[in-house]
Amino acid sequence: MKNRFLTLLILFSFIACKDVSKQHKTEVNTRGTIAEKAMVVSARKEASEIGVQILKLGGNAFDAMMATEMALAVTYPYAGNLGGGGFLVFRLADGTKGALDYREKAPLASTKNMYLDDNGNVIKNLSTVGSMAIGVPGTIAGIFEAQQKYGKLDVKTVLKPVIELANNGFVVTKRQAKRFAAYDSIFNAVNKKQILFNKSIKAGDTIRNKALAHTLQRISDHGRNEFYSGKTAETLVSFLQSEGSIITLEDLKKYEAKWRNPVTFEYDDLTITSMSPPSSGGICLGQIMKMIEPFDLNDYGHNALKTIQVIIEAEKRAYADRSYYLGDPDFVDIPTETLLSDVYLQDRMNNFSFEKPTPSDDLSHGNIVGYESDETTHYSIVDQFGNAIAVTTTLNGAYGSKLYAEELGFFLNNEMDDFSSKPGEPNYFGLIGAEANSIAPEKRMLSSMTPTIVEKEGELYMTVGTPGGSTIITSVLQTILNVHEFGLTMQNAVDAPRFHHQWLPDEIRMEPNGFDDKLIKELEALGYTINLKRSPVIGKVDGILILDNGTLEGGADHRGDDTAVGF
Ligand code: DON
Repeated sequence: MKNRFLTLLILFSFIACKDVSKQHKTEVNTRGTIAEKAMVVSARKEASEIGVQILKLGGNAFDAMMATEMALAVTYPYAGNLGGGGFLVFRLADGTKGALDYREKAPLASTKNMYLDDNGNVIKNLSTVGSMAIGVPGTIAGIFEAQQKYGKLDVKTVLKPVIELANNGFVVTKRQAKRFAAYDSIFNAVNKKQILFNKSIKAGDTIRNKALAHTLQRISDHGRNEFYSGKTAETLVSFLQSEGSIITLEDLKKYEAKWRNPVTFEYDDLTITSMSPPSSGGICLGQIMKMIEPFDLNDYGHNALKTIQVIIEAEKRAYADRSYYLGDPDFVDIPTETLLSDVYLQDRMNNFSFEKPTPSDDLSHGNIVGYESDETTHYSIVDQFGNAIAVTTTLNGAYGSKLYAEELGFFLNNEMDDFSSKPGEPNYFGLIGAEANSIAPEKRMLSSMTPTIVEKEGELYMTVGTPGGSTIITSVLQTILNVHEFGLTMQNAVDAPRFHHQWLPDEIRMEPNGFDDKLIKELEALGYTINLKRSPVIGKVDGILILDNGTLEGGADHRGDDTAVGF
């Protein structure tokens, strides 16, 4: 695990996993796919189509969620999953809002220093690749919890087309074939043999995943507990333990998805509802938006120098707070109210200046008196009944831990890397954590996933989200601003070039080819460090916007194979 070959492979594979699709600047503000009544936007056409099929059968957004999520597990094993976890934010037609947390958990046998060697140094790759990287999966618990509480159809009807898809197969896209080839050597290194997805697969080939079809059939027949205590659970645990994992049957039996109060805040005439901890998404998005609200971004212009400065400086401050204060709310006290309060956030921006950057080293987290505590996919659905959901789900890295349960037909996550293995030590996404996000048995690792629903004057306006690790929050932010401040269509809002700052490292990441050299030079002259290489793409946003005439506009990010389907 520690050898250099594997390290290089992993590095290469993380780089290769980014789609280096050509960036372009938004020239014409054209609309995306339009639908009258209902829409699903996801990372794969087949998954969006199956979601719509379920809606047409009389199902609602929660039925479509179960079908879309499982169809992504079939067609988009890069991030779609049974072996991972996620978050759902919803708004019912009557305006009720809520959130479901089906994030993975640390196994019972995990320990705070499990990724450190005898000298207290982080052991490379242990939390990112292979069996020790895996958190207890939450996805099946999540889709069942949501569907059983709010869905209308029976599970068998919902899963039927997905099982057919797994049996009959899906056609590999060009992007997908490239990825399978790029990951082939790491799949072989981790699994010690060829798996279903390998470099001999070409664009246009059909992949049938019979093992996954059988797993889904058993889940359809026996329900949620098939995954957590039935035959599937036993097969999974015996496989995991043979690979050296510390996950036990008891871990699976104890797993529960949890309903959470989402984070809600106002920005101009918008009400924004997003994911609460254990995701940092809602709080960070809220902090950034509240910090930038007093500035006239619309006047400065889209991706203009002053707009970028204001956003970047707010992002730095929010990510510094994230690293110190945020973690699983079942384990740490989070001062949510203060973190989102006007007084606190005005104070955080007190030292902001257009003249020069605030160095990240001078920033740290804000002081809160009395506080004593010490690769992903998103889909958006609006149904014909007026319910809206935003769901982000993940295995963490591309194909998660790369460990593939052949008999069951799915990859296992590497979500344990989202914990802070050691205070101050960056994780794969370069995020620094502290005590609040340290490892403990049954604790949920902090996330950046930001499934978000926006209302305008009390009415549903947008559902949006994205993959992208630490860049998720800032990608969702820019998409909302692109529509609200700069008048972009939903499609152009998701396609527009993006930038990102996460406090540490102290640099602005920008998508290459998306920004003028002149602008970059101006930022550098002010003292900002620009990194055009770290992120060939930033986020891959999927969203739905409700237009003035009540129709729906899908925004399916051109950076991937994402597709909007509606009726
Ligand atoms: O929960 C999180 O924040 C990360 N595990 C998300 C990973 C991700 O978005 C990977 N996609 N590029």
